[in-house]
Amino acid sequence: MAVQYDEQKQYWEGIRERRAPTHPAVLAFARHKLDIMLKTLPQGSSRPKTMLEVGAGNGFFSHTFATAFDLTCLDFSQNMLDRNPLPADRKVQGDAEHLPFDDDSFDIVFCGNLLHHLEEPIIAVREMARVARSFVVLVEPNAMNPLMFAFGVGKPAERGTLKFTRRYVRKLGEQAGLKARRMVTQGAVLPNKTPSLLVSPVSRLEIPNPFGFYHIAIFETPGNAVVGGAE
Ligand SMILES: C[S@@+](CC[C@H](N)C(=O)[O-])C[C@H]1O[C@@H](n2cnc3c(N)ncnc32)[C@H](O)[C@@H]1O
Repeated sequence: MAVQYDEQKQYWEGIRERRAPTHPAVLAFARHKLDIMLKTLPQGSSRPKTMLEVGAGNGFFSHTFATAFDLTCLDFSQNMLDRNPLPADRKVQGDAEHLPFDDDSFDIVFCGNLLHHLEEPIIAVREMARVARSFVVLVEPNAMNPLMFAFGVGKPAERGTLKFTRRYVRKLGEQAGLKARRMVTQGAVLPNKTPSLLVSPVSRLEIPNPFGFYHIAIFETPGNAVVGGAE
């Protein structure tokens, strides 16, 4: 079971030793996810432009995603937000389960590596579906990957990983009223662990496979105002 909200907040307020968002492993990690998104999302005039990133942390995704979207970041930890490179007016302190935004405020809502820390992830996914106009994109560790499974068993803060199968991620989106547009399981680079020298060779293994490190789930909202409906 994931640890309680207050313990979680205390945990993230105390985190100090994460890599910088410009570390080669972090850049490769974020770039692979962005490439998958860009291949799937509509391009041209119907391209999604505004993005909310929920649980943005110190900016592993934010740094790279800000090159492609008009990005706003949210996190409940001031410590993590202080380490995030986005400008102060693009960072919001808030709770994923009570997003401080109106319905349909952003073209896309993105959330990476947060849900497996929550007691009831569906509450946050419903909030993301509410504030997203067109797409919700989730990236979460894969319980079927042996290393992620070992983290889940060995680290109390990562225990929630154990239920994050591909089927579980898909169901989370569907229970929030979203429709899966693309589900990919892949991931060979670990942002906080892969040594710089190995980033290039390991990146060649960035191909879909059921035992990859991450699930990347791209959902569309029922309204999907940007593209005017599913493919
Ligand atoms: C594992 S980190 C992921 C950070 C970033 N998305 C990444 O992949 O590197 C989880 C982040 O979610 C934040 N978080 C945890 N629970 C939250 C909540 N209920 N509302 C908002 N942020 C939360 C933490 O402060 C932390 O920055």
